[in-house]
Amino acid sequence: AAERARLTAEIKALLNERGAVLVAHYYTDPEIQALAEATGGFVGDSLEMARFGKEHPAQTLVVAGVRFMGETSKILSPEKQVLMPTLEAECSLDLGCPADTFTEFCDAHPDHVVVVYANTSAAVKARADWVVTSSIALEIVEHLDSQGHKIIWAPDRHLGAYIEKKTGAQMLRWQGHCIVHDEFKSKALRELKIQNPDAAVLVHPESPASVIELADAVGSTSQLIKAAQTLPHQKLIVATDRGIFYKMQQACPDKEMVEAPTGGDGATCRSCAHCPWMAMNGLAAIKSALTEGAEHHAIQVDPALRERAMVPLNRMLDFAA
Ligand code: 13P
Ligand code: SF4
Repeated sequence: AAERARLTAEIKALLNERGAVLVAHYYTDPEIQALAEATGGFVGDSLEMARFGKEHPAQTLVVAGVRFMGETSKILSPEKQVLMPTLEAECSLDLGCPADTFTEFCDAHPDHVVVVYANTSAAVKARADWVVTSSIALEIVEHLDSQGHKIIWAPDRHLGAYIEKKTGAQMLRWQGHCIVHDEFKSKALRELKIQNPDAAVLVHPESPASVIELADAVGSTSQLIKAAQTLPHQKLIVATDRGIFYKMQQACPDKEMVEAPTGGDGATCRSCAHCPWMAMNGLAAIKSALTEGAEHHAIQVDPALRERAMVPLNRMLDFAA
């Protein structure tokens, strides 16, 4: 505890000295989220992180999350230095959608509008017409579908299927998945609901369709926190990374929160739903980002890719505004 307090104090001083701001995702450790809040930084979902990073005047952003979040900030603010605690924090959706095969896929369907999830590389975004996050995906696809566009969707298969179901759009879908949300099990969740008949079920749409079907609310991380506040239920079963409990519990201190089961045997898994890449964001790594050379921590995006990727990202931000 003393070591953490020392690290926290050091990071606060370094952020101050460097005029840097800490932007964190809800899936990072609670101590990182608390530090972002205590230092004038920000905690949010991926759309809000992108917007905050773009609009904040600080010339150095420390992005605690996974690489696509840092890349997004750099694409939107090329003049800023974007540091990450580690450049090795991947995302299985990004890894499962390599730019070369994705480009071939798009080239084979030139009459389609290309919509990609924010959880992708800069190169994949550069090939896209639209970028979306889970908080705005339904609205954007609905808009494109109503204009009669044929749509390519990548990479999350569950979010894609959910969007199709909600909007009626038929999309050519990439078959990627999130290794964390793909593990939620509907059979065990159904049993947990029977044991807790008064509980509401909150589900992130990267989860399988059979899990989404059992939900009282489906949405991005911020939207799930909002739902936790507005639903009348005193007990919540939550199917997303357990990092969310820090802010969700803060938002509803009197409510009881239970992790949705990831085991197939009906047992509630206490720590399975946690993204291994988000877990790489520790306090020591944040301090390194602020003290070591840019070599190990600064996000670089090829300028040609960056200029192309900025177009669909800004299109999303303008649509969401
Ligand atoms: P949100 O946009 O809902 O924060 O999701 C990001 C993410 O990586 C979910 O796994
Ligand atoms: Fe990617 Fe899933 Fe981790 Fe989110 S939780 S960053 S989608 S692997």
